[in-house]
This record gives sequence, C-alpha cells and structure tokens, in this order.
Amino acid sequence: MSKDRTPIILDGDPGHDDAIAWVLAFAWPELEILGVSTVSGNAPIARTTRNMLQIMTLLGVRDIPLAQGAQRPIVGEMFTAASVHGDSGLDGPKLPEPKVGLCGLGAIELMAKLLGESAKPVMLVPIGPLTNIAGLLLAYPELKAKIAGVSMMGGGLLMGNWTPAAEFNILVDPEAAAIVFESGLPITMAGLDVTEKAYLRPDDFGRVRAVGGKVATIVADWLEYFYQFHKKLGYSGAPLHDAVAIVALIQPEILTIREVYVQVETQGEYCRGATVGDFFGRAGRTPNVKAIMDVDRAAFVDLIVEAVAKYRGGGERNA
Ligand code: RIB
Ligand code: CA
Repeated sequence: MSKDRTPIILDGDPGHDDAIAWVLAFAWPELEILGVSTVSGNAPIARTTRNMLQIMTLLGVRDIPLAQGAQRPIVGEMFTAASVHGDSGLDGPKLPEPKVGLCGLGAIELMAKLLGESAKPVMLVPIGPLTNIAGLLLAYPELKAKIAGVSMMGGGLLMGNWTPAAEFNILVDPEAAAIVFESGLPITMAGLDVTEKAYLRPDDFGRVRAVGGKVATIVADWLEYFYQFHKKLGYSGAPLHDAVAIVALIQPEILTIREVYVQVETQGEYCRGATVGDFFGRAGRTPNVKAIMDVDRAAFVDLIVEAVAKYRGGGERNA
C-alpha cells in the first residue's frame, strides 16, 4: 500500500453509468482499488455480475478480487431498470467475453476480508442499492473502524426519479439505506441534486469517441445507448449519476457540497425510499451526510474524456 493512495472498494449494479464510473476509477492510480462487487439493481444479479466481468476484461483488470453480492433487497420485492439499461443491464455495444472470474467469496465476505487486511481504513464506493453495504455493517460491526467512509450514488434531497419522492438505488432497498445512513460513518452522497447536472451531451460523446481506441469507442456507444432513454424524457444529455461518487474522491473541488442531516423513509405510501434532508436544522440533529448539490459540468466532462484517454496508452492507471 503506497502512503498517498486512497484504498477503496467498488460496489455497483452495472449499468451504463456504473460502467463509466468504473472506467473513471480505474484510470486514477491515486485510487487503490482493493476489490469490486456487484448488487442486483439495474438488472438481476447474474446480469450485473456478468457485466462486471466483461467491464473488467475490457479495462484489462486482472489481479483484483471480484465478487457477486445480494440478489435481492433486505425486505422489499426486487425490481430492475430494464427500461433504462436494457434487459442485460448494459445493452448497446458488444463487450469482450470475460477473461476474469469471481474470487470465490460473496461480496460481504470479500469486503470484510479486504477491510481486515488493509493497513488503513478503506473508502466504500457503492453506486447501486446499498444491500451489500448494510449486510457488511450488520455481519461485521467490528470492522466499522476500518471503514474510512462511504462515497455513494443514491438519493435526492430535492427530487426522486423512480417515484416523485425516491431515487432508484435507495428505493430498491430503503431498509439497507437507512442502516447505512444511521451508521455514523462519514457519508458523501451524490444524489440526483447533483447527478442530474452531471450529464454529457451528444457533442461530448463525440469528444469521447474522438479519443480513439477500444475503450473510447465502447464508452461512446454506452453514452449513445444511455441517452436514448433520457432523450425521450427531454434531457439534453446522458446523466452519469454514478461517476459523481468517483469524482468526489479524485476532484472534489469541482463539486459543491452541503452538510445535511438526512433520514431515509422506509414507510409511507408515496414517500418510501425518500432521502429526507433537514436543511434548516429542524430535527436538531448533527448532519450525517455531505450532500453534493452541484458540479462544474465542463470540468466533469473533461475528467471523463481524460480518463478514457488513459486507456489509449496515454497515461498511468490502475488496470
Ligand atoms: O438513480 C440512478 C441510479 O440508479 C444509478 O446508480 C443507476 O446506475 C441506477 O443504479
Ligand atoms: Ca448504479
């Protein structure tokens, strides 16, 4: 472990924006990626796991342990987002057949092993439903001291996207989210408040494609596919929700952050899964979340292009 690298564990439900978030993470050698795990969300677990193996193969990742995680939420019924990501969870360009396999441990067990082995506390970076993270906290409470914090994509203090009140990742497993938000761990939340502003437009897709090479071509194709759903809703670009959780670790200066006390609604006919932010201290509670509220979009786009260019043989990266 080099002294100035940030040890992290990636957990997600790839997912086009998960995939691009992982392209970004593996392009930054300042991040010491200890392991990657999957959760069901955008697609069932078998699909998100196959997608992870294909993404890792595309990026040339060989020696990092990969694990499959929860196939369903703690309490509620499983639902997926085929309308957004396609039946595979990562429809669009054909990806290489996996050249890497699973490490033999489940996601929670792999996280516990990596936390136990790490010389310093590890940042957890979940960008799907929080089922695996909650499971880790419940099964291994003694390892909480080895968790530096959580940089997550999920929630929305001002809006939802799957219901008027709730964002998809939180709504899939509100009970898991409540466990994480009440854990006392330092949480940086990339909610819809910022991620809806972290979009790439078709001219940005062209900048990515113009980098050239396999990774750039596939990322541009992912962007084109992901934009199809959003274009029908009137978006001017593809919002790369999950990538913001990575930006919080590598270039937080392009983000605007507010400290807020946030609770997760697990009941309610209309508001289950809502992340309720106390902006004015009405609850009299100490803020438990660094909520990202804005992003310098031009700088964000430059980061994505810079990351993709590193796979062109143009720069140092993790993989
Ligand atoms: O609401 C957006 C989130 O749900 C993103 O993480 C996307 O990948 C989906 O999981
Ligand atoms: Ca995701």
